[in-house]
Amino acid sequence: MPRKPYVGGNWKMNTDRVTGPALAREVAASAQANPGCEVAVFVPFPYLWAVGEAIGSAPVALGAQDCYFEPGGAFTGEVSLGMLQDCRVTDVLTGHSERRHVLGETDELINRKTLAVLEAGMTCVLCIGELLEEREAGQTDVVNERQLRAGLAGVTAVQMARVVIAYEPVWAIGTGKVATPEDAQAAHARCRAVLEDLYDSITADATRIIYGGSLKPANAAELLAQPDIDGGLVGGASLKGADFGPIVEAAGRA
Ligand code: PGA
Repeated sequence: MPRKPYVGGNWKMNTDRVTGPALAREVAASAQANPGCEVAVFVPFPYLWAVGEAIGSAPVALGAQDCYFEPGGAFTGEVSLGMLQDCRVTDVLTGHSERRHVLGETDELINRKTLAVLEAGMTCVLCIGELLEEREAGQTDVVNERQLRAGLAGVTAVQMARVVIAYEPVWAIGTGKVATPEDAQAAHARCRAVLEDLYDSITADATRIIYGGSLKPANAAELLAQPDIDGGLVGGASLKGADFGPIVEAAGRA
């Protein structure tokens, strides 16, 4: 069965009460024009509700950039999955490189969050990827495999239907440097082989593995045409409808 491409806009700590909903309306228009592609936006917590209202009934999944795994209680500053669902969030990022390497999240914490997202019945976009020094030391596959196995510990084959893997080489995020289509394809194929080992070939073939790291209109078509690249997670280029739209279109065509 062909995998439906998934393109997510990761807005990070950008937008505001006015620009967020305005951007969401542009994303809604491109999602409507490209039904062959599943589209999501990962929005800062304070604007989730307003962006959800702006999306309305358009086919755009409302996503959160983080969550906490406990259902409630004395966890100052954290946001539960129940709160996110109350704001109509359906998709959640876990393991983003900025959370791993800037905020210090461990594989174990990322696994707890991933399990909680899935137990809440939501879609989890689990992000993995190597640092520049790991790549230069020839450790790309080792790091990806470790982050996949740790992040997915305890996740069932049935739950995998609601998991999207985002391979994002850390050196390519926000740097303008992009993996070559050949390098990205090789890493994606390797990740799929790890999924086959963890589950089975049907699960591995059905799981979307998307690319992230300086994805933009100029390089999207070539990357998204690779057989194991099933969409993208887009940071910088998701902040302008005029950049994000063509990426959604390229994914829909691929
Ligand atoms: P970028 O970010 O497109 O700005 O490189 C990607 C991401 O962090 O998901």
